[in-house]
Amino acid sequence: MSDKQKDKKVKIKEKLREEVRSISPYYGEKDDFEVKINLAGNESPFDIPTEIKDKFIKEFQKNDINRYPEIYSEKIHQELADYLSRELNKEVSTEEVIVGNGSDELLDILIRTFVDKGDIVLSQTPTFSMYQYFTELGGGVYEEIPLNKDFTIENIKAKIDQLEPKIIFFCSPNNPTGELLAKDLILSISEYFSGPVIVDEAYADFSSEDLMDEVDKHLNLAVTRTFSKAYGLAGIRLGYLYANPVLVEELKKVLKPYNLNTLTDILACIVLNNDDIIKERIEFIKKERARVYKKLAAYSKWDVFPSEANFIYLEGEKTHLFKKALNQAGIKIRSYNTDPAAVRITIGSKEENNAVLRVLEEFKQKN
Ligand SMILES: Cc1ncc(COP(=O)(O)O)c(C=O)c1O
Repeated sequence: MSDKQKDKKVKIKEKLREEVRSISPYYGEKDDFEVKINLAGNESPFDIPTEIKDKFIKEFQKNDINRYPEIYSEKIHQELADYLSRELNKEVSTEEVIVGNGSDELLDILIRTFVDKGDIVLSQTPTFSMYQYFTELGGGVYEEIPLNKDFTIENIKAKIDQLEPKIIFFCSPNNPTGELLAKDLILSISEYFSGPVIVDEAYADFSSEDLMDEVDKHLNLAVTRTFSKAYGLAGIRLGYLYANPVLVEELKKVLKPYNLNTLTDILACIVLNNDDIIKERIEFIKKERARVYKKLAAYSKWDVFPSEANFIYLEGEKTHLFKKALNQAGIKIRSYNTDPAAVRITIGSKEENNAVLRVLEEFKQKN
């Protein structure tokens, strides 16, 4: 780099917003081995069936891709409202949903809608890192309550009184621990708190309960969902938020026009009307989760968290050694430099899970 370029670089950095200067980009973990099996991202191990891809190609051929998509993806909003009406057995209108380029976009929009510089966002720890990332990027202050025996309604209310947050995020089932937060707790907090209470249900397709049925009873309660996990559509980036129209209307002001592309629109509409296979696959993952959990829990030198999601969280010093052993076999998982150390393993296909269990058997003998 020439001296002139170096000088430009310094000058550009000086012009950055303070929050951008102090934040590190989200890159994920770097791999120093050849990844043969990826169990780090909580994705579905199954691609969508060929028949659905064929339908997509036919539909795609009919579209003029030189044209912009609909400004606010009106068709997908309608399909989603119809889909939720079928799923929840009640009338859901397009005014109650908003779609995003992944649910990440909606989390970002929620923060940009409510959080000014210095405002507080309250959540739990450990949890999904994006709540903190988007908060701090926007100049907000992120506060978290540890998910331990003190994570009680009374203590959360006390935190609300003390910190006066603008918005609260719950993640249930929680990433990375897989645990479901008590429905009573979330509902009591949404009664108590006057601001928006967001429940990130990215993994709720795998859980025994969720809060979708409560949304129309609580004006400030919003649920976010994603098609990246159970629906096997991480590649098209699609998520949605379901909430009272009062909240949705405000969020729509912050949403960028044309946020969804035509390809996502087409495929999502097809999948929403052909989801039988997805439901079968969810049942498969749940069965595999029970099988893998049992084997992992049979080793007493770490704690295995019961999971209501498509991954399992292990805590204890041995977990990072286990990660090393998995990496040596070409299996990628997520690790956390927490105290105690922890790892998160996505439930994959039968073959992928068997590969993990083979490494486990060897690991148990040596450790
Ligand atoms: C809890 C949670 N919420 C949201 C997301 C983002 O999902 P999307 O792919 O819809 O942006 C993830 C992705 O890992 C997640 O774990």
